[in-house]
Amino acid sequence: MGVYVLGIAGASGTPYARRVLEQMLGAGHDVKAVITDAGRKVLAVEEDLVLTGNTEADTPTLLEWANVPDFAGTFELYHHKDVAAPIASGSFAVDGMVVVPCSGGTLGRIAHGISNGLLERAADVCLKERRRLVLVPREMPLSLIHLRNMTAVTEAGAIVLPASPGFYHNPKSIDDLVDMVAGRILASLGIDSKVMKTWLGPEPQGYSEEVIQ
Ligand SMILES: Cc1cc2nc3c(=O)[nH]c(=O)nc-3n(C[C@H](O)[C@H](O)[C@H](O)COP(=O)(O)O)c2cc1C
Repeated sequence: MGVYVLGIAGASGTPYARRVLEQMLGAGHDVKAVITDAGRKVLAVEEDLVLTGNTEADTPTLLEWANVPDFAGTFELYHHKDVAAPIASGSFAVDGMVVVPCSGGTLGRIAHGISNGLLERAADVCLKERRRLVLVPREMPLSLIHLRNMTAVTEAGAIVLPASPGFYHNPKSIDDLVDMVAGRILASLGIDSKVMKTWLGPEPQGYSEEVIQ
């Protein structure tokens, strides 16, 4: 099983993070999570999830939110200011990191190597160690600064995966839309999941309903 870093920054799109966390834990991976202050604010607004910043107290709250009662791997939550956490060092091996959702501010700091918090530092480590880094920005419209920052992180080796679900799979619910983005994130990290469905062409084939192994 793998070790993955889940960063949650202060952009809209926290349901994607919930689905990704659920799938990572459900598949038995070890998850190291870090949430910015703004990320906590957005979680409260969008998910009614109130975190205090005390990692010990917040851990069970986050696990309840992810709704994975039993999991074979581990879950560790670090404070954004804890730049001495293991994921701040390249010597601590991880299989990849996703920042979902990724704010314009966090994108800009990662693009410019401004690692003044653990989330940006862990992303910086992934880039320098040539490890998989997936950034999921959500903003509209995009400024030239956002676009340049996306180019910069792509040049540095990151994958920019905008939170823009398609509609060609005929979504019936918000969950379907969330799954489309979450499935792509997991696939980009090399994680098999039941939420990633393969397009087989227009009807009658449509989407594969099978679990992709
Ligand atoms: C409810 C809410 C929604 C927000 N949505 C976005 C968004 O979609 N994209 C974005 O870049 N910033 C968004 N912001 C603004 C960021 O949270 C803000 O720029 C913050 O400083 C980012 O901090 P961080 O990068 O440390 O997480 C939102 C803020 C709030 C409170």
